[in-house]
Amino acid sequence: MVEKQTLTYSLFLSLLLVLRTWANTEDQVYLQVYPPVNDTDDLTDIYFALMLSFGGDYVSIGALPGVQIALDYINSEPSILPGYSLHYTLTDSQCNRSMALESLFKQLSSEHVKLGLVGSGCSVATEPTAEISQFFNIPQVSCVSSSSELKNRNRFRYYFQLLAAESQIAQGFFKIITHYGWKRISLIIQNENLFTVTMDVLKEQLAESGVDFTEKLFNTEDGIDGLSGGIFEPDTRIYVVAMYASHARDFLCKAYYEGIGYPKYLLITYGWYGSEWWTGKASSKNFNCTPEQRSQALAYSLAPRVQEAFTNLTAPDVSGTTAAMYIEHYREAVLMEVNEEINLRSYIPDRSDPFYYAQHCHEATLTLAFALNKTINDLKNNEEQNTTVVVSKNLVENTVFVEKMVKYLQNTSFDGLSGKTVRFDEDGIRQINVLDVYQYQWNNTKIFRANVAVVHVDESLVIHYHQPFSRDSPGMWPDGVPNDGVPIEDVVTVSVGLTVVYVVFAAAGLAFAVVCIFFTLIFRNRKLIRLSSPNLNYLIGLGAIVLYLNIITLVIPTTNTHFAAVLCNVIQFI
Ligand SMILES: *[C@@H]1O[C@H](CO)[C@@H](O)[C@H](O)[C@H]1NC(C)=O
Ligand SMILES: *[C@@H]1O[C@H](CO)[C@@H](O)[C@H](O)[C@H]1NC(C)=O
Ligand SMILES: *[C@@H]1O[C@H](CO)[C@@H](O)[C@H](O)[C@H]1NC(C)=O
Ligand SMILES: *[C@@H]1O[C@H](CO)[C@@H](O)[C@H](O)[C@H]1NC(C)=O
Ligand SMILES: *[C@@H]1O[C@H](CO)[C@@H](O)[C@H](O)[C@H]1NC(C)=O
Ligand SMILES: *[C@@H]1O[C@H](CO)[C@@H](O)[C@H](O)[C@H]1NC(C)=O
Ligand SMILES: *[C@@H]1O[C@H](CO)[C@@H](O)[C@H](O)[C@H]1NC(C)=O
Repeated sequence: MVEKQTLTYSLFLSLLLVLRTWANTEDQVYLQVYPPVNDTDDLTDIYFALMLSFGGDYVSIGALPGVQIALDYINSEPSILPGYSLHYTLTDSQCNRSMALESLFKQLSSEHVKLGLVGSGCSVATEPTAEISQFFNIPQVSCVSSSSELKNRNRFRYYFQLLAAESQIAQGFFKIITHYGWKRISLIIQNENLFTVTMDVLKEQLAESGVDFTEKLFNTEDGIDGLSGGIFEPDTRIYVVAMYASHARDFLCKAYYEGIGYPKYLLITYGWYGSEWWTGKASSKNFNCTPEQRSQALAYSLAPRVQEAFTNLTAPDVSGTTAAMYIEHYREAVLMEVNEEINLRSYIPDRSDPFYYAQHCHEATLTLAFALNKTINDLKNNEEQNTTVVVSKNLVENTVFVEKMVKYLQNTSFDGLSGKTVRFDEDGIRQINVLDVYQYQWNNTKIFRANVAVVHVDESLVIHYHQPFSRDSPGMWPDGVPNDGVPIEDVVTVSVGLTVVYVVFAAAGLAFAVVCIFFTLIFRNRKLIRLSSPNLNYLIGLGAIVLYLNIITLVIPTTNTHFAAVLCNVIQFI
């Protein structure tokens, strides 16, 4: 194990050298400092790296205002990092593995020492950076990643995450499917850990509860074009769509042209896509659809996601900010020009609806600042180390710093937005355990997302649906609950008590008939019996036996189809 670590370490170091040379020869990717450095004050400027995606499969730059709001608070609050001014430098990860690594090395090779990394903008970009940041003694706090793959303390030693692990969403899918009793499902999966690991959890649960499923996997590079033999199965009506929004848009387009949609078909997809995500650009040229056409396919579908922070607009967080105030700040921050290269408004079309992850990035920035505050205090009080060391020395050698940081990060506990506690499990992952379920409903000519249910992960599979989300009042399904395409098997059963009564009487009758037959057989030579024509008696006795047997076979309860089939045939003869 130790050998393996060393090997990986030296591999990463050589990779760094290669990438560093390469990075330095190219134009610098955008590297923005916020808040602007103030040369006239006597505060020490310290920096953390921020990585979000400006493009690619998942665009998370909308989280930026959340970070800025947190920084404005941290720098104006004298009790946090006294004597310091905290800044970020921002780079783009493009939600792409190689771009994220390049971006990280740009951060590391830029002039300021980075005391932490917030990012990297989506799970695909976070996985490689979390694997590498530890070798540079950089603690990482992510706020836009939730892949279950990241829940692994051995692989990601200095990694913390403000979102619950994605495998919780599997619970959302599972509970929707079982709530409606759907027995046949098709899973369409993008081949990235973010989706495959979650779907593995779901598949296990489906198999355990006897739900049939088929799955189709496509590679990110190929898109859903890469699915040979068509996407839709002839006899499947319920589709779980596990992919990034750009591919989901292509999927909707394909579904539209093949007539897949409510009421005959139903899609279940991820709830964390951006607002009005179906209006965005297609991923492949082959899927040319208008937003209206995609809406047709999307209408009435369901989407679970981990519950967002805004559950109580008036409860304050650790900084005294309520969710309502935060939303207000967010709208102002979006209007702010960071610089002319990046116009946030072009990335955040609907600024009245704060970007889902911005709240978590807000909390991530606070998490990092609190741990930094404690670490710097600690180092100040320690005679061998001092804060000048922290900010000036290369962190690769500074294991004291990172060990303290990780200890304090692990021990994080403060009130986040809506008063929800920010705390991590032993793998550094935040526990949320509550999911919201959304439905895309029609509002005249437009679809909109309505919150229709809450799923509590730990509460023994109970679903607390808001009205009218139930089979009895299917208000959310104008044409009824979609059918899974499995032929309906009607099982009519007689109550146990009645079955017992029938069987007891029939058995008594049966016994009496048998006794009568034997009686006739034994005393057949008696005159009286001969007078009553014994042959006819046998026939009557036999008829009675058949009738009583018929009663028994009819009332025997069974759910075993083979046995039922045998019984069915036997009954024909009796
Ligand atoms: C810079 O620092 C000085 C002195 O602390 C202060 O008066 C001034 O307002 C600061 N400027 C900005 C833009 O924060
Ligand atoms: C930050 O550190 C200072 C001491 O430098 C301490 O007084 C303060 O309580 C700390 N703040 C937080 C939020 O931990
Ligand atoms: C990721 O970025 C690299 C380099 O820019 C590019 O070659 C590759 O196609 C990108 N991958 C995806 C999935 O977009
Ligand atoms: C919201 O938070 C406030 C302040 O903490 C509290 O008084 C109120 O009961 C909370 N509301 C709900 C619905 O939990
Ligand atoms: C802080 O560190 C610097 C350089 O490492 C050293 O010169 C200085 O004496 C240290 N200060 C204290 C108070 O330990
Ligand atoms: C962790 O936090 C608790 C209170 O939140 C505190 O009592 C405890 O000392 C902390 N542990 C460490 C190692 O900082
Ligand atoms: C739906 O449309 C009505 C008017 O047609 C509007 O008042 C309402 O706010 C809309 N609801 C949503 C969630 O968009």
